[in-house]
Amino acid sequence: MGEDAIKQMKQAVAKAAADRVQSGMVVGLGTGSTTAFVIQFLGDRLRSGELSNIAGVPTSFQATVLAKKYGIPLLTLDDVEKLDLAIDGADEVDPAKNLIKGGGAAHTREKVVDSLADQFLVVVDSSKLVQKLGSTFPVPVEVLPFAVAPVTRALKALGGHPELRMGVKKDGPVVTDQGNLVLDVKFDEIANPAELEKTINNIPGVIENGLFVNVADVILIGEIVDGQPCVREVSA
Ligand code: A5P
Repeated sequence: MGEDAIKQMKQAVAKAAADRVQSGMVVGLGTGSTTAFVIQFLGDRLRSGELSNIAGVPTSFQATVLAKKYGIPLLTLDDVEKLDLAIDGADEVDPAKNLIKGGGAAHTREKVVDSLADQFLVVVDSSKLVQKLGSTFPVPVEVLPFAVAPVTRALKALGGHPELRMGVKKDGPVVTDQGNLVLDVKFDEIANPAELEKTINNIPGVIENGLFVNVADVILIGEIVDGQPCVREVSA
C-alpha cells in the first residue's frame, strides 16, 4: 500500500470521526497521525460555526499542541469526571476490537483518557487490522528509567524480546511525556491479551503497557474500495 493511499484512508476515517462530535461534548483527543487529522477537522467545524461549545482532553503534548493550533478549548482530568467520546488511533486492531497502542509512546495517558469516555472510537486505516495481536507490532511498555534493567529481565522471563525504543532525530532513548522510557516487546505469540496486559502491568517499575483489552467500543476503518477512500464501522 502506497503512502498516498494510507494518507487518504487516514483522512477519510478522521473526517468520519470528527463528524460524530456534537456541540457541547467533552472529547478525548488521541495521539498519532490519524488523530492529528481528527483534531484539524474538529477545528474546521468549530471555525465554520457548525460545532460549538466542545472541549478536548488531550492524551499527549502532540494533541495539546495541535488542539491549541486549531482552536479547540482544553480541559484536564481535574475538570471532568468523564468524557462523552474519546477518539484515538491504534497500531493493531484484532477481530475482538482489542488493540495495541503506543507507537507514539503516548499509551499511558491514552489508556487513562480513552477508558473514561462513554464511547471510545478508534480510527485506523485498514493496514492496522490483524487476526492476532502482536503479529505486526511489538507491545510498547512504559517503564520507570530506574527500573529498566529488572523490567527487561522480567519481560524476557515472560517470553518477550524487549528493545529500548530509541529516538529519531534525537540521540539516545525516547523519553515519554511523563519522563519515562519505552521497551518495545515482541512476543512470539500473544495467546491471551487480557492476561498479558495484567501480567505486564504487575511487574514493579512498569507504568503501563500498550495492550488495550475490552476498551474500544467502535472501530472506524479507512479503506480504499474501487480506488476511492471510504469508511467501514465495526461496533458489534
Ligand atoms: C500513540 O502512542 C499511539 O497509541 C497511536 O494512537 C498510534 O500509534 C496510531 O498512530 P497513527 O494514527 O499515526 O497510525
